[in-house]
Amino acid sequence: MHRELHHPLIESLINTLRDDSIDAFVFRHTIKEITKLLLYEALREAPLTPKKVPTWNGVKEYGYIKEEEIVVVSVLRAALPMHEAAIDTLRSAVSGFLGIKRDEITHKSVLYYDRVGDCTGKKVILVDPMVATGGSLCDAIKVLKAKNADTIYTLNVIASPEGINTVMKVYPDVEMLIAKIDEKLNDDKFIMPGLGDAGDRAYNTL
Ligand code: PRP
Repeated sequence: MHRELHHPLIESLINTLRDDSIDAFVFRHTIKEITKLLLYEALREAPLTPKKVPTWNGVKEYGYIKEEEIVVVSVLRAALPMHEAAIDTLRSAVSGFLGIKRDEITHKSVLYYDRVGDCTGKKVILVDPMVATGGSLCDAIKVLKAKNADTIYTLNVIASPEGINTVMKVYPDVEMLIAKIDEKLNDDKFIMPGLGDAGDRAYNTL
């Protein structure tokens, strides 16, 4: 299933990203803020496991998310700020990285780097700011399923309806959390109105 977050705070942060006058630092910072809100939604139903901890008035038992059972996976490179934000919150989560590049002529995505361990019994949180054709996300999900990922959530900042349909058609069991669903893809497979190229804007490249 997929879900768009409807909230004035999200809307305002997305519109900050649309502003081409912000610099790379503010762009990355805003992506991180949105990621925290997406993560908050993704973990809404996460079970809490009881653990005994020392407190100011003796040992007590409280519930905690089992962060060690979560794998945060990012698709290089535009997702790196999202990755940082997610593991700042989930300090004991395992990290994994995938390199998937979209060929600008054929629009097909290519997997060139895989640094994700076995995901058996793990909840995977896959972060990627953009879902344009959905090709990169489908490729990433395919890799994660081959590694036995138990449940997969995706956190996405902007997605096109076409990209969401593509992912959902192939992987209806994946839960996509999207900050903003934009109008459409243009002929060059860019999300409209979109943000431009998130990787370039985050890292001052062209
Ligand atoms: C962007 C983005 C996604 C992909 C989305 O990465 O981060 O991974 O495009 O497009 P798709 O849905 O059509 O596959 P890009 O290939 O530009 O690489 P980058 O992160 O290095 O900028």
